[in-house]
Amino acid sequence: MTFKPACTLDDLWEGDMTEVEVDGRPILLVWPEGGEIQAFQGVCPHQDIPLVEGKFDGRVVMCRAHQWTFDAKSGEGVNPKDCRLAKYPVKVEGETVLVSTEGVAALFAHT
Ligand code: FES
Repeated sequence: MTFKPACTLDDLWEGDMTEVEVDGRPILLVWPEGGEIQAFQGVCPHQDIPLVEGKFDGRVVMCRAHQWTFDAKSGEGVNPKDCRLAKYPVKVEGETVLVSTEGVAALFAHT
């Protein structure tokens, strides 16, 4: 599995989210409060809206368009429950956050 640098810990704080691009894909990096940094598909599975334009309260990410919400630790849909975000392997080495996109594809609910 090949991990590539996505950002540094200066770019992402606990309880915050940011969007990065790895291998040409938009990726949402989220650091849930009391948890580990997670990497998810950057666009909403509903209608391709960038999730970074939504809200993050430290626990769930909410899309700005129609308020779909996702658990920031698992990527599972909170509302609605029958959707989820694709999750990318992520690790932290020193100050660098690394992501692997191998074998992971974004999920969509509208196709
Ligand atoms: Fe995200 Fe509709 S595009 S909830």
